[in-house]
Amino acid sequence: MTDAFTGDLVVCGIGELTTPGPGGGWDTRTYRNAYVVIEGGTVTEVGEGSPPDGDRVLDVDGRAVVPAFCDPHTHAVFGDWRAREFALRLRGADYKEILTEGGGILETVSATRASEEEELLDELLRHLDVMLSCGVLTCEVKSGYGLDRANEIKMLRVISRANSEHPVEVVPTFLGAHAVPPEWRGDPDGYIENVVLPLIDEVAGSGLAEFVDVFCEPGVFTVQQSRVVLEAAREAGLDGRIHADEMEAAGGTQLAADVGCASAEHLLAAPEDELRSLREAGVTPVLLPGTAFMLQKPYARARWMIDEGLDVALGTDFNPGSCPIIDIKLIMSLAAIQMSMTPAEVMVAVTRNAAQSLNRDDRGAIAPGLCGDLVVLDAPDHVHLIYRPGAPLVRQVIRGGVLVYDRYADGCIMRSV
Ligand code: NIG
Ligand code: FE
Repeated sequence: MTDAFTGDLVVCGIGELTTPGPGGGWDTRTYRNAYVVIEGGTVTEVGEGSPPDGDRVLDVDGRAVVPAFCDPHTHAVFGDWRAREFALRLRGADYKEILTEGGGILETVSATRASEEEELLDELLRHLDVMLSCGVLTCEVKSGYGLDRANEIKMLRVISRANSEHPVEVVPTFLGAHAVPPEWRGDPDGYIENVVLPLIDEVAGSGLAEFVDVFCEPGVFTVQQSRVVLEAAREAGLDGRIHADEMEAAGGTQLAADVGCASAEHLLAAPEDELRSLREAGVTPVLLPGTAFMLQKPYARARWMIDEGLDVALGTDFNPGSCPIIDIKLIMSLAAIQMSMTPAEVMVAVTRNAAQSLNRDDRGAIAPGLCGDLVVLDAPDHVHLIYRPGAPLVRQVIRGGVLVYDRYADGCIMRSV
C-alpha cells in the first residue's frame, strides 16, 4: 500500500513529542507544545509553538506523540495456536524437548501445511490489525512453518499479499531453517542442501524475501549448518538474521558477527565476548523479552549491552509457541521493568534501532526527511506506555501523513479492501 501514504497533514497541539534525536545512538529529543508538518508523506518540519497553516490539520489536544513502532521479529503467519503445549509447559514440560519429540514448531508446520493461502492471509491481516492498534507500522514476518518448497512459498506469498492490503508494512524473511521437517528427520544437512539452499536462490530472485533467518540452537541447526545457510544468503544478495543463543550458548552470536548479519536475535544465553563482537561488526542485537517471560527464562542482559555500546533493538517474537504476545507495548514494559532499560532507551529500541535492523533508514524518528509515521497516545507523555501495561494507550496512528487508525472512529482501521 506504499503509494497510498503520501498525505499532507499538520499535527498540532502535541503536549510532548519524544523521538530519537539527530545525534544517533541513544540520543533522544523532546519537544513541548509541538507540531509536525508532513508533506507528500514525509516530515518537513518539527517545531514548538504555533504551527504553520495547512489544509489538513489534526489537533491532538495536548496528547503525547511518538514515532510509529517497528517490530523486527515475528512469526505472524501460522496455521493454528498451541494452547495445549502452553498448558503442558506450565506444568513443567520443556520447550525444546517438545520440539525434539515432533511437537512445538513441527505441530505448527502440520497446521500451516494444511491451511489454504486465503485462510492464512485472513489471519495475518487480523494480526496486523492488532499490531496497528498497538502503534506498529513496520513489522518483520518470517516464513518457517512450511519447511518444503510449496508451503514456504505459500507463506511468503501471504506476507507479500498482506503488504498490498494493509497499512502496516510487512518485511518478509525466509526462515526455511527453522526446524528439520519430518520427511528429513535425522538429516539436517540433506534438508539444507536440497530444500533450503535452492529456496534461498529462488526467493532472492523473485523478491519474495528480503532477509534469511536460521534457528541456530543445539538440537536444531549447528553453527556450521547455520553458516552454510547465512553464507548462501549473502551470495544471493540477502542479509542474514539469526536466532542465536536463545536457550543455550552455542556460538550463534559469534557467527552473526563473522558473517555480518543484519541482526542477532534473542541472545538470552550469549557470552559477553561474542556480544562485543556484534558491536564491532555492526550487527544489531534484537532482544525479545516476551519470550523469556513466556518461557520463564532469565532475560537477555540489555543493561550490560547498552552500557557496552550496543544499539539494542526490541521486538515481540509473536508466534503461537514460545511467545504469543502481539503487543509491542507490553514488550516495552518488560524491557524497562525486567531488563532495566530507561523509557527513552525503550523508545529508541522500538523505533530507530528496530528500523535499522530491517535496513529501513527512512523511518524510526520524527525528523525532516523521514516518513510521516506517528502515534498519538491517550496519555500526556511517553512514559505512560511503559508505566501502564495493558492499557490501550494508542489513540491514533498516522502513516505518511494519512490517518490509518483511530480508536474512536467507526471501522477504526483503514484497509485498502
Ligand atoms: O523465536 N526459536 C524459534 N522460533 C521461535 C519459536 C517458534 C515457535 O515456538 O513456534 C522463537 O522463539
Ligand atoms: Fe523467533
